[in-house]
Amino acid sequence: MNEVIKTISEHASVRKFTDQPISEEQTRMIVECAQMASTSSHFQAYSIIEVRDTARREVLKECSGGQKWTVTAPLVLLFCADLHRGSRYFDNIDKDVFSNTEFYTVGVIDAALAAQNAFIAAESMGLGGVIVGGIRNDVQKLIDTFNLPELVAPLFALCLGYPDDKPGVKPRLPREAVHKIDSYTEHDDDELLRNYNDEVKEYYTQRTKGKCTDTWGEHCGQMMMAKTRDEVGYVLRKNGFLKK
Ligand SMILES: Cc1cc2nc3c(=O)[nH]c(=O)nc-3n(C[C@H](O)[C@H](O)[C@H](O)COP(=O)(O)O)c2cc1C
Repeated sequence: MNEVIKTISEHASVRKFTDQPISEEQTRMIVECAQMASTSSHFQAYSIIEVRDTARREVLKECSGGQKWTVTAPLVLLFCADLHRGSRYFDNIDKDVFSNTEFYTVGVIDAALAAQNAFIAAESMGLGGVIVGGIRNDVQKLIDTFNLPELVAPLFALCLGYPDDKPGVKPRLPREAVHKIDSYTEHDDDELLRNYNDEVKEYYTQRTKGKCTDTWGEHCGQMMMAKTRDEVGYVLRKNGFLKK
């Protein structure tokens, strides 16, 4: 155990914040840590928009189905996959290449790694937060609100602040179900998952004082069916991604 592992192991999303602001220096440090994440071929295929403007914060709230922490968090960072910069500044490029699904994937991976670095850096400073992918309920509105050019895709917001709540750590899948050796095996998964479902049911029951008693499978099934967001692909194609 060291401080980094301790910070990572104690992660729990926080959705309630005190009024204590995050300084510009902290924000700069968080963004610089994001930038130090590994990045495919050094592309750095993402942009991070700090959302200060209240009206734009309200749009994030509206797009995410009323998630108020997009307004109340002292710091909100909108992570976008960004191939636009490459289309302007990479030399000797066939412009069609950016429409390739591979490069969309690269942008999403780069942005996600950067965001997780930012999140851990923030948590190491005593901040807490939550990633909000719910904003993708209305990708076109995000593109319009944040003036995103072609080949920039809004992915999620990272909302950060000093915690005014201490949610319990949410149990993860048993390591054995995730950590496979040499090939994809699932021999013991039925039993592992049965036990995990019980553990998560217990977690939700306690956390919500009995209002939610979902197992992991029930919870994830509901979440997946509730928001298929089919129009994301349509809007991304319109914005230059995923044509090939
Ligand atoms: C890509 C992504 C999108 C997410 N979107 C939301 C969201 O819209 N609203 C929310 O409250 N939490 C959101 N979360 C947070 C997850 O619900 C949370 O990380 C997960 O349930 C595990 O809980 P924990 O972070 O407390 O350990 C998102 C997380 C990720 C990685």
